[in-house]
Amino acid sequence: MRIEQHRYTERFGSARMHDVQKVLELDSGRARVPTAQGNLAVLQIEEDVIKDYEEQMAVVIPTKDEKLKLFEGVISGIPHECLIIVVSNSERKRFDRFRMERDALEQYCRFTQRRALIVHQKDPHLARALESAGYTDILGEDGRILDGKAEGMMVGILLAGVLGKEYVGFIDADNYFPGSVWEYIRCYAAGFSMAESPYAMVRVLWRYKPKMSAHGLYFKKWGRVSQVTNRVMNAVISYKTGFETEIIKTGNAGEHAMSLPLAMLLPYASGFAIEPQELLSIFEGFGGVQPVLDPKAAESGVEIFQIESRNPHLHEEKGEEHLKEMLLAGLGAIYHSQLSEEEVHEMILEELREQGALCGEEEPPRPQTYAPLRTVDLEKFGAALESQMDAYSIVPAK
Ligand code: GDP
Ligand code: CO
Repeated sequence: MRIEQHRYTERFGSARMHDVQKVLELDSGRARVPTAQGNLAVLQIEEDVIKDYEEQMAVVIPTKDEKLKLFEGVISGIPHECLIIVVSNSERKRFDRFRMERDALEQYCRFTQRRALIVHQKDPHLARALESAGYTDILGEDGRILDGKAEGMMVGILLAGVLGKEYVGFIDADNYFPGSVWEYIRCYAAGFSMAESPYAMVRVLWRYKPKMSAHGLYFKKWGRVSQVTNRVMNAVISYKTGFETEIIKTGNAGEHAMSLPLAMLLPYASGFAIEPQELLSIFEGFGGVQPVLDPKAAESGVEIFQIESRNPHLHEEKGEEHLKEMLLAGLGAIYHSQLSEEEVHEMILEELREQGALCGEEEPPRPQTYAPLRTVDLEKFGAALESQMDAYSIVPAK
């Protein structure tokens, strides 16, 4: 594929945030001997290089009661080389939706000759394995793993670690376009191929998010929640450094990927606060304001790529209440960050009151935060799951 070179980078301590890079060509043709006058503004990433990264990548799909047709479409868009890990929190009682997801995945893997893993978030074996590996942060009072997208993603990261993957990418299960799923994962691979540090993150910014309007389809550039989250995140940095910035354009990016060393290092937040919290955790841990999170990573630096896809993003509309919940979770994480100055607090309160997400003197709730996953003993976790691995795995028939 062909992609813009990163032309501008902002630094906060040892974190490096690259400005948006656009995908120019989805398929850049056969590998050729590069010509002497290569174009400095454009980077060509060979197909083989993309495949090399995909081979080392687990793609985690967090899902909860999504339409089966959408789930089937999403898995069909995941490049063959990637390992699929589905972490489902779908219903099992009235309808066994989890069973339907498993069946769909099994049939897909049979015909495509590939491997996959599927677990249920509430599986008691998972919770016990985590406990025996010394990590109880995401366990509830009933001894099971807590509900929430973040909690599902964390299980996915650990499974990727147990299976020896180097990278982990996330893909939502409610995406209408398998072709966009395919492109997002190529963006992840492209980002990692450009990274200089082993601690790298790639966040996807979609070109458009189509909406129905009175005049037909309208190709909106910015979602409402992301617009606000980005503005407030940028304000956090602007007030800290004294220089106004607009560098963050992917504050809420659900489609994103991390190298395993980085994924194991960051403290996460519960539910829908996880994506903005990842950035906050990087700025808190490596921005030079608070104590360093990890000296080794600080030495290599943490790199964040933002890549703009060609495909528009169309996912399930979940209504006003869902949007409010997302906004409240994200802004709650920023509000309670040590990095937020008084001006940022005011901005957040004003925004949330205006949107009707808070009234009077209320403050946004502080999202639950979880200790980094590096405290999990991966070997113990893997060993404790050994007897379950057959049940979780789907392997192609010989
Ligand atoms: P949005 O796209 O960011 O507005 O949020 P969605 O509601 O589409 O959620 C993103 C993804 O997380 C979807 O694939 C959901 O099915 C999934 N998801 C939501 N809640 C949970 C949960 O509790 N556990 C898991 N494993 N996935 C979840
Ligand atoms: Co969605």
